[in-house]
Amino acid sequence: MKILMVCLGNICRSPLAEGILRSKLVKLIPNILIDSAGTIGMHAGQAPDHRSISVALNHGIDISKQHARKFSIEDFEHFDVIFAMDNSNKKDILSLARSKSDQQKVHLFLEYAGIEGTKEVPDPYYGGQKEFEEVYLLIDKASELTALKITLSV
Ligand code: 4NP
Repeated sequence: MKILMVCLGNICRSPLAEGILRSKLVKLIPNILIDSAGTIGMHAGQAPDHRSISVALNHGIDISKQHARKFSIEDFEHFDVIFAMDNSNKKDILSLARSKSDQQKVHLFLEYAGIEGTKEVPDPYYGGQKEFEEVYLLIDKASELTALKITLSV
């Protein structure tokens, strides 16, 4: 099972989503592979934003060794499930899909998780510590539900 988490820059939200979902799923599915990417390549090669690294560390998760990369068409072949953090990310990924099978791999993360209310993980890039903490808690909740759903489906 291979899962890809996608946001815009791959430095704030999707590195958190990669680290948090992995921390929950490795205990349940040992051979799980979880990666992340951004729809833009502007931050490619960079470590996650220091505010994402810091909020994750406060919750016991180390995401500091990750490196940003741009989403590519080959990701449709490598991954079984592709989770977009917001609608704009989902639209950008779907614009590269070549088939129905590619399209069916793409889900809005919070929608798949069945989170009530908000359907998008807000972009915390122009926010502060508070926004990063809120995004952490939202991704943590969605990852808990997603880990259960995926475990029951394999
Ligand atoms: P992310 O946040 O998509 O959660 O990684 C952003 C990172 C970088 C930019 C915007 C959002 N940017 O404009 O460079």
